Amino acid sequence: MKHLISIADLSRVEALGILDTAEQMAATQSRAIRKLPTLVGTTVVNLFLEDSTRTRISFEAAAKRLSADVINFSAKGSSVSKGESLKDTALTLQAMGADAVVVRSGASGAAHLLAHAGWIDQPIVNAGDGTHEHPTQALLDTFTLRHHLVGATPDGEGLDGRHIVIVGDVLHSRVARSNVLLLTLLGARVTLVAPPSLVPVGAGVWPCEVLYDLDEAIDRGPDAVMMLRVQRERMIGGGFFPTPAEYSRRFCLTTHRADRLPAHAIVMHPGPMNRGFEIAGDVADSARSVIVEQVASGVSVRMSVLYHLLASNARES
Ligand code: NCD
Repeated sequence: MKHLISIADLSRVEALGILDTAEQMAATQSRAIRKLPTLVGTTVVNLFLEDSTRTRISFEAAAKRLSADVINFSAKGSSVSKGESLKDTALTLQAMGADAVVVRSGASGAAHLLAHAGWIDQPIVNAGDGTHEHPTQALLDTFTLRHHLVGATPDGEGLDGRHIVIVGDVLHSRVARSNVLLLTLLGARVTLVAPPSLVPVGAGVWPCEVLYDLDEAIDRGPDAVMMLRVQRERMIGGGFFPTPAEYSRRFCLTTHRADRLPAHAIVMHPGPMNRGFEIAGDVADSARSVIVEQVASGVSVRMSVLYHLLASNARES
């Protein structure tokens, strides 16, 4: 694996390999000294051209816990806000000696372009590109799911036969796209739930079922419900649903709905949440919610990804 751009680039064995290394990384994080010397002498650049809280901090923590140097580069305050192109930014990073670039961009395909245009030779990690993919989010979600649905350290095991329901603004969600690919690769059954206006054209050929009714999906007794944020910033022109109240009435995970889930079912959300809109605050804070755990899983999974992409290079030099 040279880059991590899309879950579609991974085989089941590679995906399980990343998750199993993440288990080992997680085990090191409960030690008194959490820093490992693995990536000493390497430089990871976080190129964040779109806003982010947890993904950027998580990649920074992951790189630092592996002893890499980290350079944070954001659009605000850099020459990108003066209109500098992705190409010139990439050439600058290459000239400065970046060993890996973690990139988030509002443009679908930006990470692929950076990896394959020939401007930069180093490994590229996609930290979210437009509405396309967010592979490390899917990996951390799967890591969290395995812990709850399979066992504490499920070496080599997938999610065979587990039923995961993904609810909300699927149209704008790179998290949903990456999760559909990864969860089904690992043997899970996926159901998407959204109003028809927020289901992408083409979702009919995805390896999952599409429902328009959240109550119907809950009645099927899923093992996990993953709520998605309604991405108002990508809804230019509006018109995706009649009113916020109407959306909430049909698609919010309320306490009443969560109470009808099987006892073992967990509730997930990638964050940031619109509390009271797509998920009730009480559900987000309830015993079945693993939302904070997802954030912790993110650091271990990103340590694993950086290890897989960079550790062999570091050993060679
Ligand atoms: C997601 C993203 O940025 O795609 N958040 C995240 O990475 N934690 C989902 C979202 O913004 O709604």
